[in-house]
Amino acid sequence: MLPSASSESTPLSEPVLSASPDAPREAEAGGLLSQLSAKATDGDRSVNPELVAAARAAAARGAVLLRNDDDALPLAPGARVALFGRTQKDWIAVGYGSGGDVNAPYATNLLDSLRETGAVEVDEELAGIYEAWCAQNPAEPGEVWCAQNPAEPGEMWGQWPFSYPEMPIDDDAVRAAASRAETAVVVLGRAAGEDRENLLEPGSYYLTDTERTLLEQVTAAFARTVVVLDTGSVIDLAWVEELPVSALLVAWLGGMEGARAITDVLTGAVEPGGRLPDTIARRYEDGPSAAHFGDPVANDYVEDVFVGYRYFETFAPEAVLFPFGTGLTYTTFDIAADEVTGEIRADEGATVGPDGSARRADLGAVTVRARVTNTGRRPGSEVVQVYAAKPDGALSQPARELVGFARTGLLAPGETEDVAIDVPIASLASYDDAGGTGRRSAWVLEPGQYRLFVGADVRRAEEAGALTAPELVVVERLEEAAAPREPFERLALRRGDDGKAEPVHEPVPLATVDLRERILSRLPEAVGGAAGAAGAREVTLADVAANAASLEDFVARLSPEQLASLAYGDVTMDSPLGARGNAGALGGVTESLRALGVPPAITTDGPSGIRISAFASLLPCGTALAAGFDPAAVEELAALHGGEMLAKGSDILLSPGMNIHRDPLCGRNFEYFSEDPLLTGRSAAAVVRGVQSRGVSACPKHFACNNQETARTVADSRVSERALREIYLRGFEICVREASPHTMMTSYNKINGVWGHYHYDLVTTILRGQWGYEGAIVTDWWMQMAPDPDFPALRDSAYRVRAGVDVLMPGSIEHGGTVREDSVVESYRSDGGITLGEMQRTALHVLRLLLDVGLVEGQSRAR
Ligand code: BGC
Repeated sequence: MLPSASSESTPLSEPVLSASPDAPREAEAGGLLSQLSAKATDGDRSVNPELVAAARAAAARGAVLLRNDDDALPLAPGARVALFGRTQKDWIAVGYGSGGDVNAPYATNLLDSLRETGAVEVDEELAGIYEAWCAQNPAEPGEVWCAQNPAEPGEMWGQWPFSYPEMPIDDDAVRAAASRAETAVVVLGRAAGEDRENLLEPGSYYLTDTERTLLEQVTAAFARTVVVLDTGSVIDLAWVEELPVSALLVAWLGGMEGARAITDVLTGAVEPGGRLPDTIARRYEDGPSAAHFGDPVANDYVEDVFVGYRYFETFAPEAVLFPFGTGLTYTTFDIAADEVTGEIRADEGATVGPDGSARRADLGAVTVRARVTNTGRRPGSEVVQVYAAKPDGALSQPARELVGFARTGLLAPGETEDVAIDVPIASLASYDDAGGTGRRSAWVLEPGQYRLFVGADVRRAEEAGALTAPELVVVERLEEAAAPREPFERLALRRGDDGKAEPVHEPVPLATVDLRERILSRLPEAVGGAAGAAGAREVTLADVAANAASLEDFVARLSPEQLASLAYGDVTMDSPLGARGNAGALGGVTESLRALGVPPAITTDGPSGIRISAFASLLPCGTALAAGFDPAAVEELAALHGGEMLAKGSDILLSPGMNIHRDPLCGRNFEYFSEDPLLTGRSAAAVVRGVQSRGVSACPKHFACNNQETARTVADSRVSERALREIYLRGFEICVREASPHTMMTSYNKINGVWGHYHYDLVTTILRGQWGYEGAIVTDWWMQMAPDPDFPALRDSAYRVRAGVDVLMPGSIEHGGTVREDSVVESYRSDGGITLGEMQRTALHVLRLLLDVGLVEGQSRAR
């Protein structure tokens, strides 16, 4: 390993060697970024059977059945099935990078899982052909990559394969299989990974010629062809309109139990539970971000709030192949909207304080009731979705916005369930960033009708009722924050004479705030006196935990050096302070802090499982979880995951990844949830609540607008304040308000010209000031060093601490380096540098996190 070079750092345990001698590195603009890959070293492959069962159920609940002609699925008991496609064997369980690099104790594949159940008869002759070919053409990413890049063996970070070459098969072999089996299952696979975008190329977004030929051969020879798509991202599906495919099942990347889950679905042991968390368009080019995605310097978010279905349903419904929220089951449902109760009334309580703190008016909720009946012949559960259409006014509005959803229980044929969905009236508000309503920088309800639609997806939802706002209602007055500084034109809506929505463009409102003045007027006071009181009695953090001293009292006694140490991680990944292969430590990273009872907290990735040297469960990816539209089930899974964190030595899980699926090509979409902020926020809140119910911490990331991987450490996401608040921050806001994460991670990229880790307005004005977030904030791993444009005396971590981002992770000055960056204490000692109060503010956040996760002596954790 790279031993910790922090001057004061003394390992609590013996230093360990690098988790991997050939640690992958990522080359990026701005330097090398070392990401130690935690190769399995420990022997214990045991996993909690409850977690295994929950993971299997979650993967099936997320699987989306998009077509099922003539009831091709489920496969009849004992049916003879011919499996095509190498992915039946080389099943892709997860994507690559920090969100996938888990030492899973095992992973299943579809061929073996189908054999294992014995529910159908697998055509073994064909299976034998694939097994022999796969053995000769291995799909291990390392081998494939190294074969293509012999000069740099081992250096495959960010070079992950998108897919593995398909086995060509001749017509005779396909016809022979068709003479033995009645149903064909074609399995296609796509991988994706961090630091690499999916590409508009065969093998990534498009089918390869061999895959296309395979589908043509199989659909020509078989009366029934089922296609299983093992992918974390949306890919081109235009071919389902050209080929006689009977059934199409999107499996997502389901983790170690994913193939078993898909077996359950194919054989009908479990229903396909998923609904699409993203719109699937006929052509990539029809998407609203297509022309403004992937630029390495800056991307204008011209589509504004019209992201995903908000765009398609408003301006281009005919471009949609499969609408948002859709998904078939093995039965049918009737959703009868019952009543809509509630009213919009004015509330003068919406205020903003001089410090920027906001108070939201309490407007109550509207309740939407529906009666769901299973009208088919098999048991199943339905997802009832509620969409709103807001009145035309000064603000352009999408035709539909998801405002609520609920999953029924498993209903027997003929059974009925009454569903009541509460939609907070405040959540119907829009953010006026231009002043067109007369209330700039406020969440408002413009006058008019708020129509509510209820149904099984965004297209099938029917109007159930409406609320009327007789006049403009101000839901929350805020102050402008994080607005764009570079002009661009954003999409807006104009009604044609026929009432149809027509796209127009308008200039995006630019920032007007003097950030320097805002920051100076709100510098935090030092606690316990300007000099940092040196009290008579030594106070330890254990005294604080035992309520024998206040946290402020403890912090007031810390020296500037000790305060500064709390603003850095323990320098490297795989910190010797914690379990092997961890992502780094924070908190008690020095001997002098530990002497005061400040413990280190150990971070690990990530969204699909704990990424350390030990074996750990590999869980369904974020998109699969969101597709279940079932936050309660996600929470249960995450609670079991939290239990595994306790057992494996992870205090902070760097999860959930919750950036919006702005564009299907983003390489990390599989880690994230959806194109919709409500589904994203609810899914993330469920993960956070579940994990934190066991006493450990989640860490939602990447705050904010990490919507592409191309040049992710330097690219600028330029986005209007309205789209920020309604789309890109909204999921985070829901997660913070619903689940109070103890930790959050900023993004690598810039947002309107400012890097996430220096973004005062995002983290201090909005996240803390307006949403009331009280936890700690860490950077993504190694941040870009830079001077503060508003305070020339500040740079690097001093700039960061002034912005309100507490901890540089893993803590070194350069990507992959071992030397701690020391600008915090240096800045404090220099003229015009950061203040004691700012260092203390950071210390308070970090120490509160340690107390919240129960690491301090005398504390106990939930189990
Ligand atoms: C990723 C984060 C991850 C961190 C630590 C970064 O490259 O963007 O999501 O948590 O590494 O592995």
